[in-house]
Amino acid sequence: MAWLPWSLVLATWISSAVCTSITDITGTHQRTPLSNQTVTLTALVTAKGKSGFYLLGDPVKDKRVSNGLSVFTSTASILSQVEPGDRITLTGKVSEFRPAANPDYLLLTELTSPTNITVISKNNTVTPLVLGKDRSPPTQKLSALDVGWDGWLSVPNNQSRVDSVNGTLQPDQFGMDFWASLLGQIVKVPQPVALNFPNSFGEFWAAGNWPTTGKNSRGGLTLTFGPFGVPDANPEAIFIGSALDGTKNPKTAIGTQLSDIVGVITYQFGFYYILPLTAPTVISTPDPTVAPTTLTSSSSAKNRCIITVGDYNVENMTPALAHIKDVANHIANYMLTPDIVFIQEVQDNSGSTDNGIVSADVTLSNLVQAIANASNVTYSWVDIDPVDGQDGGQPGGNIRQAYLYRPEKLHLVQTPAVIAGGALNATKVIGNIGKPLLNLNPGRVDPTNAAWNDSRKPLAAQWTTASGHDLFTVNLHLSSKGGSSTSQGDARPPVNKPVAQRTNQVQTVANFVKSILFRNPLANIVVAGDFNEYSQTRAVLSSLNPVLIDIDEVARVPPVERYTYVFDNNCQQLDHMYLSPALSLRGAEVEHIHVNNWAPTFNARVSDHDPTVGRIRVC
Ligand SMILES: *[C@@H]1O[C@H](CO)[C@@H](O)[C@H](O)[C@H]1NC(C)=O
Ligand SMILES: *[C@@H]1O[C@H](CO)[C@@H](O)[C@H](O)[C@H]1NC(C)=O
Ligand SMILES: *[C@@H]1O[C@H](CO)[C@@H](O)[C@H](O)[C@H]1NC(C)=O
Ligand SMILES: *[C@@H]1O[C@H](CO)[C@@H](O)[C@H](O)[C@H]1NC(C)=O
Ligand SMILES: *[C@@H]1O[C@H](CO)[C@@H](O)[C@H](O)[C@H]1NC(C)=O
Ligand SMILES: *[C@@H]1O[C@H](CO)[C@@H](O)[C@H](O)[C@H]1NC(C)=O
Ligand SMILES: *[C@@H]1O[C@H](CO)[C@@H](O)[C@H](O)[C@H]1NC(C)=O
Ligand SMILES: *[C@@H]1O[C@H](CO)[C@@H](O)[C@H](O)[C@H]1NC(C)=O
Ligand SMILES: *[C@@H]1O[C@H](CO)[C@@H](O)[C@H](O)[C@H]1NC(C)=O
Repeated sequence: MAWLPWSLVLATWISSAVCTSITDITGTHQRTPLSNQTVTLTALVTAKGKSGFYLLGDPVKDKRVSNGLSVFTSTASILSQVEPGDRITLTGKVSEFRPAANPDYLLLTELTSPTNITVISKNNTVTPLVLGKDRSPPTQKLSALDVGWDGWLSVPNNQSRVDSVNGTLQPDQFGMDFWASLLGQIVKVPQPVALNFPNSFGEFWAAGNWPTTGKNSRGGLTLTFGPFGVPDANPEAIFIGSALDGTKNPKTAIGTQLSDIVGVITYQFGFYYILPLTAPTVISTPDPTVAPTTLTSSSSAKNRCIITVGDYNVENMTPALAHIKDVANHIANYMLTPDIVFIQEVQDNSGSTDNGIVSADVTLSNLVQAIANASNVTYSWVDIDPVDGQDGGQPGGNIRQAYLYRPEKLHLVQTPAVIAGGALNATKVIGNIGKPLLNLNPGRVDPTNAAWNDSRKPLAAQWTTASGHDLFTVNLHLSSKGGSSTSQGDARPPVNKPVAQRTNQVQTVANFVKSILFRNPLANIVVAGDFNEYSQTRAVLSSLNPVLIDIDEVARVPPVERYTYVFDNNCQQLDHMYLSPALSLRGAEVEHIHVNNWAPTFNARVSDHDPTVGRIRVC
């Protein structure tokens, strides 16, 4: 009959609010032990916003356990009962919240339906935890569930879920656990440095005065390999949300120094956040000057072996002159008119108007003219029109890759005449051993392979240089990461879309490159463009790596300076240039020119990508 008294205890537990402490609610694990229970608490109000207020309980030694808690209510008559500094008792329901539309976000534990608020005392001191002094975030890994060689970038991804596993928090090891162990608490971020431009809500990422990894010369945090070759996710960065008092965050850029931030920790939109009590102010902004590349070409006979190679995703470039002139200024005055430029995201002559037009001759002629106006270089250009609506990107835009080239430095190999392939013609490597030739030049690589469905087909070409040497090029724009889950979401490792397709795309390019190297192992080959993938996602690039060498490796660019894009907290490299063994053995240089990601404001950017300039030796 032992069950009888026990069920009575349980009945009492459920029917009346239990006096408890915040640490009983937060606990040592990802999920609360008290989900859906009604509790009564005594705690200090630390902060208040339009959709609730924040509580602090008694200090706790166990670093896994937060003594903070958010109370959700937008009812003005309840909000008006509390002020920061009040010690109160209240009753409410322990709830785990996640927006129904976002199943890949984590659950947030909060107190809902607060009632019976009694203010015990007012004007108590609220002392924030000082990050960097009292506690510091770990700097490499996000979650214990990111298993695999590539850590948080491992494939396969979406193998487990944080909330289902409900593990013990390990805040010294894992960034997500660190921020989870402080949920609801009030913290101070001393000397924050912004890591990106604000999003459309004025939110931005920052790191305070605490240990960081991946810090680049601008003050941003670059995605790099950490200890034991595990990709470093920079979990020491924290998203700064909108201020609770309604003040507006300043416009940040990478490296903007801000006044100290005091705020509360929460989870929203798939990330851990600090919501400042009031918006910080700008202390200093980084130097807006961007130096042009130092990698110039030369027309002297002695240096005919040297070719400069540019690469630039020009972000949906239409014939409209305003954008074209800005791109031309970058190519002329920052990239210093490389001998050949790999361009991505050239739209057709009608831009995003979906009218069946696929030709981009007006777009590209305008670009060439604008560069000629801005320099004394007149480029030739070549592209292949896609089949209308079949290559992804902005609907109607028919984006494609193109080459700009300086005719006095390079010309398309005549095989025997220049025959360009159509949208669906695969160029093939023909010719004798020692003298590979493309049967269609330029031509697309394996365009009907399912890997290129709804994506831009690679544009291959074979050139002869002024020195009389051959150069093969492949200009890529792989499928984008749209639809991936957030790096701090429930799915671990995070969902990387469409990773299988992107892996297959790389494989078809690797096969093509191998067919050139089969006929001439010493061939000069450059594969470059927007890969929409990081070097650290080794699984995706693994078929290319045994065949070609990353120019950043050849040139020994410091890993923290390897970036062409900024997404969330990370400066990262989506744009790559790979060299064949012969080119890499002769040595090469490369520079990423941060004309866009170092822009003073988001709107001052010309493209979301930075261009790259490399210098190679074809003989
Ligand atoms: C999570 O783990 C805690 C601690 O073991 C436990 O009390 C709680 O019930 C678990 N929650 C879920 C949903 O598994
Ligand atoms: C709490 O209640 C919700 C809604 O009724 C339910 O979906 C959820 O499973 C409950 N949580 C636990 C841990 O029992
Ligand atoms: C409201 O709070 C008072 C004092 O804190 C307590 O005596 C009372 O039982 C509470 N009522 C409810 C409905 O929780
Ligand atoms: C709170 O303290 C300040 C000074 O510390 C004092 O000016 C103010 O009157 C106090 N307010 C209340 C409600 O006690
Ligand atoms: C991740 O896997 C879960 C099953 O665990 C599935 O329901 C969900 O749709 C997947 N998410 C994505 C974005 O593929
Ligand atoms: C180039 O300069 C000419 C003469 O100033 C001007 O008419 C033309 O619009 C410019 N073209 C572009 C594409 O900038
Ligand atoms: C443009 O012309 C000037 C003067 O003729 C010359 O000094 C300069 O090197 C040229 N620039 C390029 C990029 O060829
Ligand atoms: C491209 O493919 C089409 C359809 O197979 C064919 O008619 C055409 O001749 C090919 N073009 C070239 C240049 O080979
Ligand atoms: C190609 O992509 C489109 C758009 O994403 C999709 O609807 C279609 O099913 C795909 N076709 C194949 C053969 O995968």
